[in-house]
Amino acid sequence: MRIAVFGANGPTGRHLTEQALAAGHDVVAVTRRPGSLTARPGLTVAVADATDPAAVDAAIAGTDAVLSALGARPGKQAVTTYSASATAIIAAMEHHGVKRLLAVSSSIADPNWRPTGAHFFNHVFDPLVNRRLARPVHEDMRRMEDVIRRSGLDWTLVRPSGLFEHPVVTSYHTAETSADGVFTARADLAAAMVRELAERRYVRTAMGVITTAVKPNIAKLVWNEGVKKK
Ligand SMILES: NC(=O)c1ccc[n+]([C@@H]2O[C@H](COP(=O)([O-])OP(=O)(O)OC[C@H]3O[C@@H](n4cnc5c(N)ncnc54)[C@H](OP(=O)(O)O)[C@@H]3O)[C@@H](O)[C@H]2O)c1
Repeated sequence: MRIAVFGANGPTGRHLTEQALAAGHDVVAVTRRPGSLTARPGLTVAVADATDPAAVDAAIAGTDAVLSALGARPGKQAVTTYSASATAIIAAMEHHGVKRLLAVSSSIADPNWRPTGAHFFNHVFDPLVNRRLARPVHEDMRRMEDVIRRSGLDWTLVRPSGLFEHPVVTSYHTAETSADGVFTARADLAAAMVRELAERRYVRTAMGVITTAVKPNIAKLVWNEGVKKK
C-alpha cells in the first residue's frame, strides 16, 4: 500500500514511518519540518501543514490509506490542530477516494477510561497533567474524534495511554474502545497501527493500545516528555 503518514517527523511518526517501510509499504511522510527525514526508496517526503486543505490534498493524492500521529503541545491556548487537521484530511480523502484512516487520539478521549497505575500516577499525574494542564489538547482530540466518526471513511481511532520511548516493539495489548493500562511505548503504538492496517479488526471503532511488558521510569518520563521535549 501507499500510505500517507502525518506527523511523520514527530516521535511516534518516525516509528510509524520506519515500521510501515519495513512492512513493505510505500510511505509519503507528511511533515512541516522534514529535518533529517529525506527521500529514499519507498519513502517520499511531503512538506505540508496538516491544517492547510490544499497542501493536505496534494499530499494525499495517490495514496491508499492515511495514518496520523499529529499532536499539539499542551498549553493555555485553545488547541485546534486535531480537529482542523482531521477536517482537512477527511476532505482530501473523500476527494481522492481514499477510504482507510487511522488517527492517534488518547485513552483520555474515552469518557469511561480511568488510570489504574501507581498511586502517584492515579492521584497526582492524571488529575494535574491529563485532566487540567492538557485539557485543551484533550478537548480538541474529542472534537477530532467526532469529526472522524461523522465521516463515511473506514476509520480507526487509536487510543494510547502515556507515551514513552522504548527501542523495540513488545508484546503490546489492544482492546476495543480503550485499553486498561497507563503507558504505551511509541514503538508499540506504531506496530499496532501498521498491524491494524493489514488486519482491519477495529474498523469504525476505537482501538486502545497499551504496553505492559516494560515500564518507563517516571522521573525520566516527566523529564523527557515534559521538560526536554521541544
Ligand atoms: N504524550 C502522551 O503521553 C500521549 C498520550 C496519549 C496520546 N498522545 C498523542 O499521541 C500523538 C503522538 O504523540 P507524540 O508525542 O509521538 O508526537 P508529538 O510530539 O505530539 O508530535 C506530533 C507531530 O505533529 C506535528 N504537527 C503538529 N501540528 C502540525 C501541523 N499543523 N501540520 C503538520 N504537522 C504538525 C509536529 O510537527 P512539527 O515538528 O512540525 O511541530 C510533530 O512532529 C499525539 O496526538 C499526542 O497528543 C500522547
